[in-house]
Amino acid sequence: MEDRVLNFAIIGCGVIAPNHAEGIVNTPSARLVAVADIVEEKAVKFAQKYNCDWYTDYKKMLDRPDIDVVNICTPSGLHPEMAIEAMKRGKHVITEKPMAITLEQADAMISASKEYKRKLACIFQRRTQSIFKKIKEVTSQGAIGKLILGDAYMKYFRSQAYYDSGDWRGTWALDGGGALMNQGIHCIDLMQWIMGEVGSVFAYTRTLARKIEVEDTAVSVLEYKNGAIGIIEGTTSVVPGFDHRLEFHGVDGSILVNGEKIARWEVPGLELKLDSYETAGSTASDPRVASYRGHQILIQDMIDSIKNDRDPLIPGEEGKKALKIILAIYKSSRERKEVYLDTM
Ligand SMILES: NC(=O)c1ccc[n+]([C@@H]2O[C@H](COP(=O)([O-])OP(=O)(O)OC[C@H]3O[C@@H](n4cnc5c(N)ncnc54)[C@H](O)[C@@H]3O)[C@@H](O)[C@H]2O)c1
Repeated sequence: MEDRVLNFAIIGCGVIAPNHAEGIVNTPSARLVAVADIVEEKAVKFAQKYNCDWYTDYKKMLDRPDIDVVNICTPSGLHPEMAIEAMKRGKHVITEKPMAITLEQADAMISASKEYKRKLACIFQRRTQSIFKKIKEVTSQGAIGKLILGDAYMKYFRSQAYYDSGDWRGTWALDGGGALMNQGIHCIDLMQWIMGEVGSVFAYTRTLARKIEVEDTAVSVLEYKNGAIGIIEGTTSVVPGFDHRLEFHGVDGSILVNGEKIARWEVPGLELKLDSYETAGSTASDPRVASYRGHQILIQDMIDSIKNDRDPLIPGEEGKKALKIILAIYKSSRERKEVYLDTM
């Protein structure tokens, strides 16, 4: 068991990178030693703020033997090659969501993690929030009985200017999808984490309001493997943008979530002090994640998983689950038929 401070490096100094940097510098057993961005100005500014080294070529940064963990904050389609390159060079990896935009790439990352014996952790920071951990805990214990319905309504707003703010946004090649692959994936991950594995989907996805390649509006009906059914609705096109609603129903009770707060707690015999749960701020119409706390928990978890040689909280296999549901939804819409996830 190692007891030293671990050295972290970040690739990509854009919107989400500060959450990683703050998570690292606020964790006593972590140190931020370097950042990389192809845009020199961004790398320099970021490095000055966090008092670390900077690079424009991430591979040069990876040459450094003192880097233990690499946090990948680049456009989604670039995560696989960067993660594999980093693991090959002996670094552990924390990747932003989605870990990849195809199942083949996700599998290649998981294989690389095994081959090079490096930890691969995926960011789904909502899994670290106490309200979602509580819902997971009580539903797993059967507190609302057999699960029958699970719905996620994610009616967000992102302007055309948001999509135009980066040439990768809204593209198949680098965003890998739209309202579901970029924004909705967090809640899709929570749904499958809490409700159980998804068996099949039938979906319509459309590009109705934005000038982008990918979907800005999607509706899907799902069947979970445990027999429960449900809806996933995701958009980035409704004004002014609303907090997501997640609804969990069992034969004995219901739990409704609005944004990051529990709106109804109908769990027989189990009181919940609603105000004891922290909130993370709404991303309904603003992509900046207000709190770095969730990222910090996953950074600390990476350190603990290295020191105790255990799997991280959200390893590659877990990160792949929401990706697979979304790719099934796209396939269903394209082919106009129900898609069974086990056949993918
Ligand atoms: N966890 C969350 O809630 C959350 C929120 C926002 C974004 N994200 C994810 O984070 C990733 C980045 O999103 P963003 O909004 O920060 O994007 P962004 O465009 O603001 O930042 C990406 C950065 O990567 C840099 N970059 C591009 N190619 C590079 C390369 N080859 N080498 C080094 N740097 C390179 C760009 O110059 C840019 O600064 C995406 O995968 C996105 O899905 C996650």
